[in-house]
Amino acid sequence: MTNLDDLEALAEIDPHDARRVLAEFPAQCRRASTLRAAPPPGIGTPRVVVVAGMGGSAAGGDLLAACAADAVDVPVLVHRGYGLPALAGPDALVIACSYSGDTAEVLSAFDAAVTRRVPVVALTAGGALAQRAAAAGRPRVTLPGGLMPRMALGYLLLPAVALLEGCGVTVATAAEVDEAVAAVESLAPELVPARPSADNEAKRLALSIGDRLPVIYGGPTTGAAAYRWKTDVEENAKRFALAGTLPEMNHNEIEAWQGPAAKGLHAVLLRDAAEPPEIAQRFHILRDMIGPSAGGLSEARGRGAGRLARLLTLAYLGQWTSYYLAVLRGRDPWSVPLLDEFKRRVRRPSP
Ligand code: F6R
Repeated sequence: MTNLDDLEALAEIDPHDARRVLAEFPAQCRRASTLRAAPPPGIGTPRVVVVAGMGGSAAGGDLLAACAADAVDVPVLVHRGYGLPALAGPDALVIACSYSGDTAEVLSAFDAAVTRRVPVVALTAGGALAQRAAAAGRPRVTLPGGLMPRMALGYLLLPAVALLEGCGVTVATAAEVDEAVAAVESLAPELVPARPSADNEAKRLALSIGDRLPVIYGGPTTGAAAYRWKTDVEENAKRFALAGTLPEMNHNEIEAWQGPAAKGLHAVLLRDAAEPPEIAQRFHILRDMIGPSAGGLSEARGRGAGRLARLLTLAYLGQWTSYYLAVLRGRDPWSVPLLDEFKRRVRRPSP
């Protein structure tokens, strides 16, 4: 296993310099917080918001929906797939998110919105989505390019927060956005490779997980971050990970924590400072019940007073943890060859 404090070894395993992109995430968030599109002309407060995205480009939508859940009376749904759900009508707002702008499912959602006259805004760094938005005269937020979509979380989240604010849906106030960016800025130096393992939460988490299967659990709010951790582990470290949410997992998945198999698992509980007492109680019982049989168990928390800050910092901690899991096993955290090959095959005309 790689020594996570050996910066030369990291440079060799990470030739695309993903560590620099992650270290610059606070600057990305700062810049993202200034990007906005004008709301579609004539739109009032939408009845429902549908964020259409896949993979890394859906992650911003998940965090947005988690922040919105009990804060605004407009449902925010994340749509992962072709077309649009039937409830997306002319009184809805669709945010079509694709960092590359070339993701088939999101292009299909954008086209469906145009055909069905649903107000739509494109969030993209370019590609066909940018072209279609320009051709159809639909608003677009132009994101800076050159990143892996999953590492562009700030760009895929914060402009959507500003867009909704402009439509009268305040998922986070400007002050909460500022707080979130400041929280990421203060966390970054604690997680970068130069900070030694003894004093680096992401390195310590990766080392505790080691070769075990990470199982990430969140509560009603942090469940969105748990899913994000899972996908970051899969894409960055090229390893399986599981994610679940309390209280639902108490009704099914808890049974899987039996017997010798549990020794091969490492649970990571994503806690939240504002979790209600009934959720805190459930985490407590969960620790008690699975702790003795699990191969390992850790807890992590986001930082900040606002929910956006806590979710963004938690997601950032997950990015670094998955980064260190990748380098521990000598895997390039940047490239995603199977994902790319899959997209190539989908694009190929059928014989
Ligand atoms: C790759 C990544 C993927 C992509 C997904 C959709 O870094 O994160 O999960 O996000 O394949 O592609 P985009 O984001 O370009 O629409």
